[in-house]
Amino acid sequence: MRTTTLAINLDLPGPTISRHLYGHFAEHLGACIYGGFWVGEDADVPHTRGIRSDVVAALRELDVPNLRWPGGCFADEYHWRDGVGPRAGRPTMVNTHWGDVVEDNAFGTHEFLDLCAQLDAEPYICGNVGSGTVQEMADWVEYLTRGGTSPMAELRRSHGREEPWRVRFWGIGNESWGCGGNMRAEYYADLARQYATYCRNHDGNVLYRIAGGANSDDYHWTETLMKTLGDLGCGCNARGHFDAISLHHYTVVGDWQHKGSATEFSAEEYWTCLARAAGIEDLLRRHGAIMDVYDPDRRIGLVLDEWGTWHDVEPGTNPGFLYQQNTLRDALVASVHFDSFHRHADRLAMANIAQTVNVLQAMLLTTPDAVVRTPTFHVFAMNRGHHDAAALAVHPLGGPLASREVDGRTLPLLSASASVKDGRALVSLSNLDPDAEQTVELDLRGGSVQAAEGTVLAAASAAAHNTVDDPDAVRPVAVDVDWREDGVRITLPPHSFATVTLTLA
Ligand code: AHR
Repeated sequence: MRTTTLAINLDLPGPTISRHLYGHFAEHLGACIYGGFWVGEDADVPHTRGIRSDVVAALRELDVPNLRWPGGCFADEYHWRDGVGPRAGRPTMVNTHWGDVVEDNAFGTHEFLDLCAQLDAEPYICGNVGSGTVQEMADWVEYLTRGGTSPMAELRRSHGREEPWRVRFWGIGNESWGCGGNMRAEYYADLARQYATYCRNHDGNVLYRIAGGANSDDYHWTETLMKTLGDLGCGCNARGHFDAISLHHYTVVGDWQHKGSATEFSAEEYWTCLARAAGIEDLLRRHGAIMDVYDPDRRIGLVLDEWGTWHDVEPGTNPGFLYQQNTLRDALVASVHFDSFHRHADRLAMANIAQTVNVLQAMLLTTPDAVVRTPTFHVFAMNRGHHDAAALAVHPLGGPLASREVDGRTLPLLSASASVKDGRALVSLSNLDPDAEQTVELDLRGGSVQAAEGTVLAAASAAAHNTVDDPDAVRPVAVDVDWREDGVRITLPPHSFATVTLTLA
């Protein structure tokens, strides 16, 4: 059996891993909002003001830090005024991006902010640049955040909400290079300056403005934004300043026409999936390097506000609804991403997996009366201890990690990261080898271990997944770890994810 030794200096804390790297995303797409979160006030399913109680309860287990809404592509055809006021009077529209279905606007601004309150999550709203106006976006910010007397504050009050909400995270359009308007980087960058100027800070609500960023390896987009917006990233809260630029990257096994099944995949597709997931490291490094040129002090954050696996939809489901199952392989995609996120915590300010319920790499899959926690859900839960902890570097000893050449990349068979907070260290370990166990020795320096607990997420097959009939086929279980004051030894089953929590003296 392979044994890998990793050295960790417990007394050398690095940058803080923002809890916002564990953010989520809910779009008006398929059964994410309608059926997933929102059942309406007349539903038989238990709900609070129309929002499903079982879904909220499950997500509260994850300490969801923020929730992005209303899209995605939907954001750039969404007109917020259609989704406020008495529900019976709200106009309908056609959701042309996602299934060409009629959207009745039952779930709008007030419902979203209520959902965030129920989750205890910060709202992240993405405004409409593609088909909206500067005035419309400025009005939305005023409607949400202005106290006192103003036309939008009065409109909000007339809809039953006296006090303004606190809304910090604000996106200036989505995928403006594609579904958000098919713009060139140069054109979007100038537009973003204009839109951001009129997104005001009302009554002490300081916006964190996020410019719509690149698709995967479109480095020209990032460079153009940094050149054009860099002078507004002054950290001085000047009018129209930017705090962050975004990035979207999905893990697709095949090509966009034939992405591959979520549950029925070959050994080769397993490897390709994980190698492509591990490619996030290179993307974060390269986009970060461009940003460093214009912003060496790292005041402008990188926000990966869409990431995750994108497989073929489940047979028999609406192709426009992006409903896919979620296996142990997806869980490893998530754990590998988080290891990279932790390594880039000094630039990466936020990340949002796509999407929270019933869409793409979801946390939860629902039926009208059941909620299934996916393997990916469990990775988020097991990694909660990294929220706002200080990153710790992890160094392999005895040469480079064992690896495999896949898809033009060298994929290490072990992925790891660590952090420390409040006298506890958390180490995350992923054994990507589907055929063999791996033993990991942690060589711990600069601290003294008083206790160690292990948890493992494993199954006989990488394609194992949870269903209504078998909701715990993949679930975390406690595992024995050998520990001493300065070290830990743990054996990881094939294709598994594990965490080790260390109590420090
Ligand atoms: O998450 C699904 C879609 O993927 C989003 O709407 C869009 O932004 C991206 O292309």
